[in-house]
Amino acid sequence: MVYDLIVLGGGPAGYHGAALAGRKGLRTLLLEQKALGGVCLHSGCIPSKTWLQAAKILTHARNGTAYGVKAAELHLDQQAVTARKNKVVRILSAGVKTKLQNAGVEVVAAKGEIQGRDESGFRVKAGAHCYTGKNLLVATGSVPVIPPIPGLEAGLGAGTIKTNAELFDLDHVPASVVVIGGGVIGMEMAAYFSAVGSKVTVIELLDRIGGEIDPEIAGILYDNYRKKGVDFKLNTRVTAVDGQRVQFASPTGDGAVEAELIILSAGRRPLLSGFGLETLRPQMENGRLVVDRGGRTSVPGLYAAGDVNGRSMLAHTAYREAEVCIDCILGGTAEVNYEAIPAVIYTDPEVASVGETAESSARKGLDVQTVKVSMRYSGRYVAEHEGGDGICKLIVARGDRRLLGVHLITEYASELIYGAGLMIDRGLPLDELEKVVFPHPTVSEIIKEAAFQYGSI
Ligand code: NAI
Repeated sequence: MVYDLIVLGGGPAGYHGAALAGRKGLRTLLLEQKALGGVCLHSGCIPSKTWLQAAKILTHARNGTAYGVKAAELHLDQQAVTARKNKVVRILSAGVKTKLQNAGVEVVAAKGEIQGRDESGFRVKAGAHCYTGKNLLVATGSVPVIPPIPGLEAGLGAGTIKTNAELFDLDHVPASVVVIGGGVIGMEMAAYFSAVGSKVTVIELLDRIGGEIDPEIAGILYDNYRKKGVDFKLNTRVTAVDGQRVQFASPTGDGAVEAELIILSAGRRPLLSGFGLETLRPQMENGRLVVDRGGRTSVPGLYAAGDVNGRSMLAHTAYREAEVCIDCILGGTAEVNYEAIPAVIYTDPEVASVGETAESSARKGLDVQTVKVSMRYSGRYVAEHEGGDGICKLIVARGDRRLLGVHLITEYASELIYGAGLMIDRGLPLDELEKVVFPHPTVSEIIKEAAFQYGSI
C-alpha cells in the first residue's frame, strides 16, 4: 500500500500536519519514536508554562500586601509542581492522540528511517516494516546546542548539568542555579528559579539578554530581574565546567560561580542526521534543511516543517509551516508569512513581539517611525500592576502608515500579540485601528492608545 503522506516526527509540526492531511482525505502515516507532542509538550512550552504558573501564584501571594492582601506562610512544593506538570502533559497528550485518531491518521510508535526513493515514492523503514509514501514530511525537530566547552559533555552525562530535556522532573528547589545562555529558555528558567527562591546567575555571551527582542525591552526585562536578585554576567563566555563550578571569561576578568544546578540553554539546532535523510540528498545550509515559504525542499515531494528547517524554531511557526506543506501537497500555493510571526518570552512580566524592530527596519532600509507609550496608559494595567514599568512600541512605515512591528513588555502580552500579528499580516494602515473596538478595561487597549499617540486616531 502506498500512503499519500508519511510524516516523520510527532511534535507540533508533525501531528498538526498529519491531522490536517488526514482530515483533507490524504492517506497519512505518522511515525514517532518517543511520545506524541514532541519537545513542546513534554519538555518545552507546556512543562515550562505549568512551572511558571506556580511561580506566578507564589509571586502574587508574596506581593499581595501592595493590593491589600496579606498571605500567611508561603511554601512551594516542587514535587507537587512537577506532579501537576505531569498531569497537564497527560491531558494534552491524550488530546493529540484523539486529534490524530479523529483525522484517520495511522500512527506507528517507532523510529522512521528513510531508505531512499523509487518510482512509487519515498521508502521509510520503521521496526520490521517498510512503508511507502508519495510525499514525505520531515518534522524531526531540533536538539540542544552543546557548545565545545570542557566539562559540559561530562556534566550532562553525570546529570549535574541539565538542558530542558532533563529539567522538568526536578523534585526540589535547588539553592542555587547557573543558567548558561540568557536567551528565551534561559530567561524563562531564570524567571522560575528566582521566583521560587533559588539564587540565580545568568551567563550570557552577548551584551544583552533575550536575543533578538527590542533592546529597550531587553533592558527593562534585565532591570526587572536584577531587582528580583538575578545576577547577570553579560559579555561573558563560559570557558569550562568542573562539577558544580562554572568558569567564565569576561572583559572585566575571569571568574567562577558554583551552583547546585547548572542549566544549559545555549540554543537549539535542527535534527538532520540519524534517520537516513542524506539518502535523498536535499539541499542543506548552515545545518538546516532548506525550504521555501511553502515548505518544499529541493527534492520534489519532500517537505519540512518545524525546527528542522531552522527558520523560526517556534511551535506556532511549526503549526503554520505544516499547514502550508499540506496545502502545497494538495496543489495549493499557500506560504508562511515569516514577517508576522509573534514571539513570546513567558517571564513575569511577559515579553511579546511581532514584526520589525527599529534595528531590523534600519538593516532593511525601511523608513519607519517608532511610537512608544508607557503601559500606564492602560487602566487595567495600572489597576493590576503596582509600580509596573511596562512599555508598548509600535513600528510604523512612514509612507503608507502600515503597522510593521509591535513590541510589548507587560502581563498578558502573550495573549494580545496575535491581534498585532493579524494587523501586520494584513498590512493594516494604523489609521484603520480607529474602527476597531477594544474591550475596556483591558491591557490590549494599549495598542489603540499608541495609535492615538501617533496621531492616527
Ligand atoms: P536562544 O537562541 O534563545 O538563546 C541562547 C543564548 O545563549 C543566546 O543569547 C546566546 O548568546 C547564548 N550563548 C550561547 N553560547 C553561550 C556560551 N558559551 N556562554 C554564554 N552564553 C551563550 O536559545 P534557547 O534559549 O536555548 O532556546 C532554544 C530555542 O527554543 C529557541 O529557538 C527559542 O526560540 C525556542 N524557545 C521558545 C520559547 C518561547 O517561544 N517562549 C521558549 C523556549 C524556547
